[in-house]
Amino acid sequence: MDLLRDADIDPAPLAGKRVAILGYGNQGRAQALNLKDSGIDVVVGLRGGSGSTREAEANGLRTALIEEAVGSADVVMMLAPDETHASLYQEVEPQLRDGAALGFSHGLSVRFGFVDPRPDLDIFMVAPKGPGTALRSLYEQGKGMIALWAVERDATGDARDIALAYGRAIGCGRAGLIASNFAEEAEADLFNEQAVVWGGVPELLIAGFETLVEGGISPEVAYLECVGELHLIAELIEACGIAGMREAISNTAELGALLGGRRMVDEGVRERMAEVLREVRAGRFADELKAEKANAYGRLEAARSEARSALVEQTRRRLAATDES
Ligand SMILES: NC(=O)c1ccc[n+]([C@@H]2O[C@H](COP(=O)([O-])OP(=O)(O)OC[C@H]3O[C@@H](n4cnc5c(N)ncnc54)[C@H](OP(=O)(O)O)[C@@H]3O)[C@@H](O)[C@H]2O)c1
Repeated sequence: MDLLRDADIDPAPLAGKRVAILGYGNQGRAQALNLKDSGIDVVVGLRGGSGSTREAEANGLRTALIEEAVGSADVVMMLAPDETHASLYQEVEPQLRDGAALGFSHGLSVRFGFVDPRPDLDIFMVAPKGPGTALRSLYEQGKGMIALWAVERDATGDARDIALAYGRAIGCGRAGLIASNFAEEAEADLFNEQAVVWGGVPELLIAGFETLVEGGISPEVAYLECVGELHLIAELIEACGIAGMREAISNTAELGALLGGRRMVDEGVRERMAEVLREVRAGRFADELKAEKANAYGRLEAARSEARSALVEQTRRRLAATDES
């Protein structure tokens, strides 16, 4: 594994350069503030009338319209939602300076051809492995978030040094920057979102909750068992790994996990996981994402509304109200 930390990385390639951050959402806010606090000349590029302008300025950041920010920058970071990158890139391409560096925090839009950047541009990625809120709070605590980095195209000969200096300036060099490539990062990330942490785990929690409720257990007890304990296992795995987590729990829980875990995640689950990976690599998810944007996010809106009214969520709200009283 090729892992670099602050001491291995020269910050100089960003000195005297201006970075434009396009988008002030989850990653944009965190990366812009971390860059500013690392002494980098940063401007946040926003759409005319953006509600984020006031917030960014209140946080001490300079803002500009997207085209002005891009035209003034040596490094431009695409931190708007992935499905907007195709139109956003087309919009900014005429303003991009010759030999500028174009950066991404996810490999998706390059790996699946949403953008096809001009040949004179350096193309790099620094992909923090976690949400922007944590990227910012870790930075403020003097810590950092691990990230993958990659160079897709080194047009100027400086792309590697700029990518690493950027990763260092947003605090990721404090934890480690791991060399990867756009395809690996995008495929692994999309697979995990569907099959494991963000797709598989919540559905497992809901299925467990509903099974207990159908079996006559009260929703509150079912919620505390199946959903409320998630943070405990996450913290234990973070602190001591999967093997250490098993040793840290009671013999009763450990034996239950041993007997039950592989009944739940059987060969069928593994076969479907392999299918998800094949589909991701074939671009099926990228097509779904484009279609979802074209359909004004109708499927996502419907799913959000259904999730808010589900019994498991009603139970969470009841328990939270008990906590507050
Ligand atoms: N979310 C995460 O934790 C996370 C983690 C790792 C990597 N990433 C990657 O980071 C990138 C940004 O993701 P995100 O979740 O931070 O995005 P986000 O929060 O959804 O981004 C919102 C920002 O993008 C702007 N925006 C939306 N549509 C736009 C458009 N068509 N043109 C220009 N600006 C537009 C919004 O502008 P307004 O202010 O005008 O609404 C807002 O400032 C993605 O590549 C993502 O895969 C995200």
